[in-house]
Amino acid sequence: MMTIHDFSKMKLEQKKISMVTCYDHWSASFLNETKVDCLLIGDSVAQVMHGFPSTVHADTDMIALHTQAVARGAPQKFLVSDMPFLSVRKGLLEAMNSVDQLMKSGAHSVKIEGLTGHDDIIKNIVESGVPVMGHLGLTPQSVHQLGGYKVQGKDPETQDFIFTASKRLEDLGCFSLVLECVPHTLAQKISEHLSIPVIGIGAGPNVDGQVLVLHDLLGLTSGFKPKFLKTYSDGRELFKESVEQYNLEVKDQIFPSMSESYS
Ligand code: KIV
Repeated sequence: MMTIHDFSKMKLEQKKISMVTCYDHWSASFLNETKVDCLLIGDSVAQVMHGFPSTVHADTDMIALHTQAVARGAPQKFLVSDMPFLSVRKGLLEAMNSVDQLMKSGAHSVKIEGLTGHDDIIKNIVESGVPVMGHLGLTPQSVHQLGGYKVQGKDPETQDFIFTASKRLEDLGCFSLVLECVPHTLAQKISEHLSIPVIGIGAGPNVDGQVLVLHDLLGLTSGFKPKFLKTYSDGRELFKESVEQYNLEVKDQIFPSMSESYS
């Protein structure tokens, strides 16, 4: 299994890191058989698996339950679990209880969105021996303050802000950083200036790794096609066709045949 030391080693050796989201035992068990480097139990679980409108609806219990399922299914993979909405904004005790629950559920590290106002908490988590992955740029937990899911860092002020915050996260001891939906030039500059790996989503090719939501890359998500997304199969159609075929065969009394029956 990968460790946080492999993250920096891969950056040094200029090998790209691949990460995908994973929320359940079934997909964890097939991802365990792939060469993808690490799995993210993202707070996007609230949208993808529970149908909520945003990640604001994820809480620690939800992410912990999904982390446990993924840990049972993918024992060979390095797991990153998201610290959910406001979990780092209600004081140190609340944050540490959340980290405690996620790590005991099987996570090997936690991912924390943003920096301003909770840098001390990030420092404390790192100093407690828990690897922290930062997350800057489009931070979906702040969607209402950002005014929607928009590319961040388009003007010089926000570019400076994101650049400075990324340096600070490295100084605080984060072992890696997710950069979401920022211009590729800014992402490249940050990746070149940091010694920790930068994992992009909508951040262009010149970073140290990429992350996508599994359901998006498999083409299972209906009607979601942002510019940064590449789909690698038409999963939704494929699964629908199989279920329609099963339905037809049941109605037409083709399934089950004698070969699927006990004597
Ligand atoms: O929760 C999630 O899926 C994420 C990725 C978009 C990086 O945080």
